[in-house]
Amino acid sequence: MNMQVCAVTNQKGGCGKTTTALSLAHALAIKGKRTLLIDLDPQAHATMACGIQSVEVQKSSYSIFKDNPFSIKALAIDLGSNIDIVPSHIVLSTIEHDLKDTENGLLILFRTLIKEELSYDNIIIDCPPNLGFLTFNAIRASNQIIIPVEPSTFALMGVSKLMSMIELIKLKLHHSPVVKGLVTMYDPLAEFSQKMLFKIRNMFGDNLFRSIITYDIAFKESQEKFVPVFVHNKDSKGAHDYMNLADEILLLMNNDIPEHIYDHLQKILFNNVYSKEKMFEYKAPTAKQVYVVGDFNDWKINEDSKLEKNETGVWQKRLFLAPGRYKYKYIVDGLYYEDPHNPKKEPNPYGNNDSVFEMN
Ligand SMILES: Nc1ncnc2c1ncn2[C@@H]1O[C@H](COP(=O)(O)OP(=O)(O)O)[C@@H](O)[C@H]1O
Ligand SMILES: [Mg+2]
Repeated sequence: MNMQVCAVTNQKGGCGKTTTALSLAHALAIKGKRTLLIDLDPQAHATMACGIQSVEVQKSSYSIFKDNPFSIKALAIDLGSNIDIVPSHIVLSTIEHDLKDTENGLLILFRTLIKEELSYDNIIIDCPPNLGFLTFNAIRASNQIIIPVEPSTFALMGVSKLMSMIELIKLKLHHSPVVKGLVTMYDPLAEFSQKMLFKIRNMFGDNLFRSIITYDIAFKESQEKFVPVFVHNKDSKGAHDYMNLADEILLLMNNDIPEHIYDHLQKILFNNVYSKEKMFEYKAPTAKQVYVVGDFNDWKINEDSKLEKNETGVWQKRLFLAPGRYKYKYIVDGLYYEDPHNPKKEPNPYGNNDSVFEMN
């Protein structure tokens, strides 16, 4: 298998980047993959979480960007059992100012990683909470990007900006990493979390990990002890969630998983109970606007409920819904219609019918 390089990035602070980089790196290491964690955040949270209180500047990730006497191999600190870390240092925050005008400055990390013959299966990069020089370097060096999003309105607002930056990198630097969103800090009991999950699913579509990271106090507890969540409590929900994510990533990235385990993983991951896909379709070649509204989106008319017309005049919208029974209607140029292809219906308080379907 080729070495996989994965940046964990989102300009929003507190959305679970460091927790994801750290826990995913450990989960991959537990699964027998040689893993390197690179801390590119000057705040050095990942470094501290690994129990490293301080390092000399020249022995931190800062060295990667300076005319450095140390290679990645020399910078990496062995944390035991398949995992190394290149720690960070607060001085890394000055790098942007020093190097932003340097020609090819955005390629430094990429070039360093390909120049050295590293023997890792996976490299995970923890990014700072901004869209600056270090984040650009991380994205350029990676073939996979994970965007952690916690179910909140502000978290979602930043995502489109980040996506446009990744598009820019694709265009300008001719580099197209696989980009996937990851839901973090999900509270399955909170109605609000479920609503946000619906929005996140519709924003990312297929580019959202099926594994979901639930809110678990075990992360804060393990942080306090400077140990990974797997050492603090390997049976916690949080530990399980990141193990699932590691499985999903291995499944996506390589084919060296034995067939029977592959089938088993497919079942667990793809039967994930949180939501399933439902395609809404309405044929109306001459209509100007079509929406689908129902219990699943509070009957709201907005961008999320708008259908797109295909070349055959059929309006379509793919939504991800949790299992349940839903009432709905189409709105075609301002008028409400039942689904002509669905015989199941139910009277509503307005004296006509809503269409009904069940997601199992
Ligand atoms: N799934 C989770 N459940 C509960 N707390 C979490 C979870 N993920 C992260 N946290 C906590 O939230 C805070 C911010 O997370 P962190 O990973 O440091 O975010 P970022 O790196 O994006 O700033 C930390 O205190 C962390 O322990
Ligand atoms: Mg962080």
